[in-house]
This record gives sequence, C-alpha cells and structure tokens, in this order.
Amino acid sequence: MNILVLGSGGREHALSWKIAQSPMVDMLYCAPGNGGIGDVASCVDLDMRDHDAVISFCREMEIDFVVVGPEAPLVAGLVDDLDHEGILAFGPTKGGAQLEGSKGFTKDVCAKYGIPTAAYGRFDNADAAKAYASEQGAPIVVKADGLAAGKGVIIAQSVEEAHAAIDDMFAGSFGDAGAEVVIEEFMTGEEASFFALSDGKNTLALATAQDHKAVGEGDTGPNTGGMGAYSPAPVMTDAMCDRVMTEIIDPTVKAMADMGHPYKGVFFAGLMITDEGPKLIEYNCRFGDPECQVLMTRMTSDIVPLLIAAAKGELDGHTADWSDNAALTVVMAAKGYPGKYEKGTEISDLAAAEAETGAHIFHAGTKREEEKLLATGGRVLNVTATGKDVTEARARAYAAVDTITWPDGFCRRDIGWRAVAREKA
Ligand code: AMP
Ligand code: GLY
Repeated sequence: MNILVLGSGGREHALSWKIAQSPMVDMLYCAPGNGGIGDVASCVDLDMRDHDAVISFCREMEIDFVVVGPEAPLVAGLVDDLDHEGILAFGPTKGGAQLEGSKGFTKDVCAKYGIPTAAYGRFDNADAAKAYASEQGAPIVVKADGLAAGKGVIIAQSVEEAHAAIDDMFAGSFGDAGAEVVIEEFMTGEEASFFALSDGKNTLALATAQDHKAVGEGDTGPNTGGMGAYSPAPVMTDAMCDRVMTEIIDPTVKAMADMGHPYKGVFFAGLMITDEGPKLIEYNCRFGDPECQVLMTRMTSDIVPLLIAAAKGELDGHTADWSDNAALTVVMAAKGYPGKYEKGTEISDLAAAEAETGAHIFHAGTKREEEKLLATGGRVLNVTATGKDVTEARARAYAAVDTITWPDGFCRRDIGWRAVAREKA
C-alpha cells in the first residue's frame, strides 16, 4: 500500500522510519518532511493546512492511508475532510481532537465520567477567574484553554502571580487560546507519559515515557517542546499502567463515543502519579515529540497494521510488542532555543556518530543543501540509543552526541537523570 505521513519533526522521522520497515508498504511519502526523512520516505512539498491539496495529492499518488503527525491539522479537521473523501487516515476527527484543543472540554469530560484529575474551574472573564484563584489559594495552575504550543501553562506560586497570569491571558498573550482560562489545583507527584491506541471502542495500551520539558539541566529554565525523553518510565509499573487504562483511558473512550465523537487515534496522556494514584494532567491527541522517537525505537511489532486497525475500528485482538531494552533520546537544539537562534548552520559527522555508537539519529529542523546538512529549526536532532537500562542507553546517546560536529548546537547533559538515579539506588 501507499502511505503518506504528514509533518516535519523528529516524531515524523521516527514514524516514517518505523512505517518504512513494514512489508505492507509499497510507497512511503512524507509531507513536508525534513533533511533526514528523505532516507526512508519520499519527501513532498505539500502544505497540510490546505486540505484540498492533501486530498488531491492522495488521489494522484493513490495513497491508501494517511498518518497525521502533529495536532494542528487534527484540530483543524483534516481527518474529517479525508474521511469525507473516503481516504483512510490515522488520527482523531476534529470532535475527538478537542481533547487536546480545549483543556476545558477535557476537564468537563473528566468531571462527568469520574476520571481522576486536578480540581478546576473554567472562566471566560478575568474577574471570576481571579475570585476563584483567591478562594483556592496558591500554588495554583493557570492555563490558556486552547492550543498554545505547550506554553500556555503558568504554575503560580502566589495568588498575585495567578492574578497576573489571568490578566495576561485575557489580554491576549496566548492569542485566541487564552480567550478562555482553566484554573487548576496544583498536583504533586512524579510525571509520566502514557500512550494508548483507540479505534473508537477498543483500546490497546502502548508504552510509557518521561520527557524533560525545561531547557536547562536540573529541569530549570523556560519550557521547550521537549529536550529529551526515555522509555519505559520506571514509575509506570504494570499495575499502574492497568490503573491508567481502567481509570482514565477506557472511560475517556466511552465518554467520546457517548458524545458522538468516537476517538480513533493515539492518546498521549500526561499523568501525575500522586499518592492517591494516577491523575490526568492533560491529553494530547497525537504522539509526543520526542517521546515518539523512543517509542518507535522500542516497538518490535509492525506498526502499520496497528495504525490501520485503529483507523478502521478493528483494534480488537491486536497486540503490540516491545523490546525489554530502554531507549533514550537527547535533543540537540540550536544555541538560543527556545528564544532566538540562528538558522542555516552546518552539521556534520552524523554517519560516524551512528556507526561508532549504534545510536540512531532522527532529524527535526534540518535540510539538505547539496552535500551539506543545515539546521533550520530550534530542535534539530534527536540522538537516540538503546541499552539494557536507561544508564546504558544514555551513555551510548551521549557518545554519539560527542561525535557530532555542530558548533552552533547544544543539548542538556542530564537527560534521564531521574531514571539513572533510580537505577543506581
Ligand atoms: P500541560 O501543558 O498541561 O502538560 O502542562 C505543562 C506542565 O505543567 C506539565 O507537564 C506539568 O509539569 C505542569 N502542570 C500542568 N498542570 C498541572 C497541575 N494541575 N499540577 C501540577 N503541575 C501541573
Ligand atoms: N513532548 C511533548 C509533546 O509532544 O507535546
């Protein structure tokens, strides 16, 4: 069959790399792709915001299956439009993608179906929001309702800080995403990410990961899209995963079906493992980036039948197999990220880094120009390695990082610290 992957990040490189290994694939395309995806797929210059252009491409190239990587096209209803044309696609419809597109929507689903999460209030004006924050006290969490590229969350340490964040959001600091605000109880515990497929009725647990959102070592500094990740997350024991499926994922699938938005796609649940058990922080309606890179590295099953079964409502009876090894990915970013950074700087010695260490490098913001590989984005490379534990995977990943020549790039040197500390104990 012919498959089209949409996106241009490390997540889409990892998905394309994994899909390309399937014997079911004849032609694999990725739009728009990046400087690394061309090794495993044919990159095409296609704007995924232009749904008609995507549909025309699918017709012309006889695409049998579309895999949507990022959230924006899902929230914009690309899968609805593909469905309407009879083109099979992986990812939720616009109705399903509200789970990521509106934090207030998700909180209401949790409240109605008894899904454990932080206590909350939803507000469309600053006065009511501030009154609620004052009543609840600090620390308290202030969130822009809509998509804010991972930046619309303020953990306020005082009521004054919460009030300032509320004013900021209603003043438009996150654009339309902040037209409504969710205020939440501050939860404490260890964070973990949990992934599961759903076909609208049936679910299949995938795997777990932990990421590092902050740009600086020791999880300090401004938040980014993610500076590294590893899988599995040691805090996610089998018993904890079972609880997440029965207490969080399965009720969500039921809720979405009841509401007329049967959810087909992947759940990326951000969890807080509290003393009372797992609680939902938020849902994303697509794979994580860079979490996908470690998931695909550990998955031993063919992913294509699983994605197709999710899209067709035929997930029942499917299983997913995983390597017992740990996988860890270190993100190399352009110096200055997540602030301003230079574009077009040259990177070399990737092949040597892979050959000498066995690591695998997924590209994010890169492009090839003649013989050169150039950095074009903030997050640029995902240096990914496996090992019998996180400690071993990490040593291998950093050995590869140290072989890469990129004077204009940087990475955190402590990815996996929490798991490594556990393994030492
Ligand atoms: P989100 O974009 O909702 O994942 O939030 C970003 C980060 O803020 C999460 O990964 C948590 O570290 C933190 N966070 C969000 N909501 C809460 C909460 N209710 N309690 C504690 N931390 C939170
Ligand atoms: N790494 C976090 C995300 O993909 O949203």
